[in-house]
Amino acid sequence: MTDPAPAAVIAGVGAWVPPRVVTNDDLAARMDTSDEWIRTRTGIRSRHFAEPGTATSDLAVEAGRRALASADVHVDTVVVATITPDQQLPHTAPLVAERLGLGGAAAFDVSAACSGFVYGLAVCAGLIAAGTSRAVLFIGADTFSTTLNPDDRTSAVIFGDGAGAVVLRAGNAAEPGALGTFDLGSDGGQWELATIRGGGSRQRLAAAPFDPADEYFAMEGKAMFKQAALRMADSARIVAKHAGWRIEDVDRIVSHQANLRIVEQVAYELGVPAAHCLSNIDSVGNTVAASIPLAMADAVAKGDLRPGHRVLVLAFGGGLTWGGTAVRWPSLRLADPTLPNTRSANP
Ligand code: UT7
Repeated sequence: MTDPAPAAVIAGVGAWVPPRVVTNDDLAARMDTSDEWIRTRTGIRSRHFAEPGTATSDLAVEAGRRALASADVHVDTVVVATITPDQQLPHTAPLVAERLGLGGAAAFDVSAACSGFVYGLAVCAGLIAAGTSRAVLFIGADTFSTTLNPDDRTSAVIFGDGAGAVVLRAGNAAEPGALGTFDLGSDGGQWELATIRGGGSRQRLAAAPFDPADEYFAMEGKAMFKQAALRMADSARIVAKHAGWRIEDVDRIVSHQANLRIVEQVAYELGVPAAHCLSNIDSVGNTVAASIPLAMADAVAKGDLRPGHRVLVLAFGGGLTWGGTAVRWPSLRLADPTLPNTRSANP
């Protein structure tokens, strides 16, 4: 009998957000919104914005460094999920690998918007299963504040910048931390629900005439909300079934955090207590590809995510794209007990 393919096992976690905190009142001072509206409609109180000159790779390096220290494993591959790369070329991962002293490692980016972390986990798990990689540093990082339209109060208030990372190593499917089967899906027919239209090959930045609004992110919030809750709840049922768990066996759900009400809606649709859903959206906002590992690292630091927990990991984003996987949480130590800095940086 041939040996089963190696499973990808979570061996470390780390996170980082840039120091600058932007409160709801800060936003209300420059656009027509209020702390009360943002808090009650999204659950967000503050978020972190990168200063001009700070790029996605800068955040990714900080999160990656902490995940590497947490895992103490030699990695041969670096993957970054992002839709806000430092520039079009080169992509982000080789820069991150070099700065972390991992020059020579395989390094590439994954682009799947707010589903980037789950899609990227699946890609990394595939690399490990195929024997191409023995251990991967996988980072979700975005500086989405750079895409926000200051005239669009609906989307501008929900996003923040940050990075979160895991180290995945080759192991076996029965051990704690082994990633389960993935559910991945897309619906390109609804691509117009979340867009940054300009700057690609269809609508080139140098071409005229160019609508300045196309430089920015645009979203149909209500439709995205409904799809997010529906798709993540569906993925949850599929991956829980593959794991052999009933939904009531699930201890924690860590889902992409676009809006606290979506997190709660997914819990409601699944019949899971809202308290089982991990969230730090109140202090980081929607951090796109970083949101799941940021929530994971924060929950490990606070003791909300503990060894043995049966965890569903769920994502949804533009594309449309969605996905999920299941993992029995392993014993991990954070590299620095003061990290992630998502709480301590807030008043
Ligand atoms: O991460 C990728 C996936 N993203 C998502 O899944 C995002 C999902 N969508 C959402 O989270 C929510 O739809 C938003 C937070 C974006 C918007 O919340 P909503 O409850 O859907 O608000 P809405 O767009 O339906 O607007 C309701 C009202 C409107 O006023 P009227 O027409 O009722 O008078 C808006 O003009 O709220 C108004 N409004 C605001 N008021 C104060 C919209 N944005 C704001 C604001 N401050 N920032």
